[in-house]
Amino acid sequence: MMLGMMKILTNKYWQERYEKGDTGWDMGAPSPPLTAYLDQVEDKNKALLIPGAGHGYELEYALSLGFTNITVLDYAEAPLQAIRNRLAQNECFRLVQSDFFDHQDSYDLILEQTFFCALSPSLRNDYVTHMHRLLKSGGKLVGLLFQFPLTESGPPFGGSATEYLERFEPLFSIQTLETCYNSIPPRQGNELFFIFNKK
Ligand SMILES: C[S@@+](CC[C@H](N)C(=O)[O-])C[C@H]1O[C@@H](n2cnc3c(N)ncnc32)[C@H](O)[C@@H]1O
Repeated sequence: MMLGMMKILTNKYWQERYEKGDTGWDMGAPSPPLTAYLDQVEDKNKALLIPGAGHGYELEYALSLGFTNITVLDYAEAPLQAIRNRLAQNECFRLVQSDFFDHQDSYDLILEQTFFCALSPSLRNDYVTHMHRLLKSGGKLVGLLFQFPLTESGPPFGGSATEYLERFEPLFSIQTLETCYNSIPPRQGNELFFIFNKK
């Protein structure tokens, strides 16, 4: 494996990027494919996890829809503090500062956006198994994965539908994995929307 693929991207690395304002991934708004997905979830009491959430705009969106059990997780302090500054505490959500791989709980629905691609590719299989562990029986992992070649440069690190199928199929049944029709313009054609059901 190439050196960059082994890169360990620490909490400090991400915290410093937030402090410098070097946050090119931050859309300043919830992601349209994720809002469209949340719009059609009927049970608003589902336990929802947003890991590697950054500024977590999907949190406000889910709250506005009436979701009552939302966990936002990130291991950098700065984005969680930004959420605290924006939002009054509310019993419908909690902020967890933790390494994703140390987090233990169980969820009905987990949302992925620019978290998988932010991890060292050497952690991809660990991501799959930990997501599987965090989901309840019948749970779903839903979101966006990039489709552009995986090289040493990143984050974001790329990948392909073929790679994702190989990695996720042993533990998830693949409901949807297709080029996203409602990406924001700069990501058009580069994102796959997926729904993976825990096996
Ligand atoms: C590229 S940013 C994406 C943030 C957000 N999902 C968005 O789309 O704006 C990746 C985020 O994942 C967080 N992160 C990276 N590795 C993590 C880990 N192992 N555990 C928890 N958070 C992590 C970083 O602190 C950062 O906020």
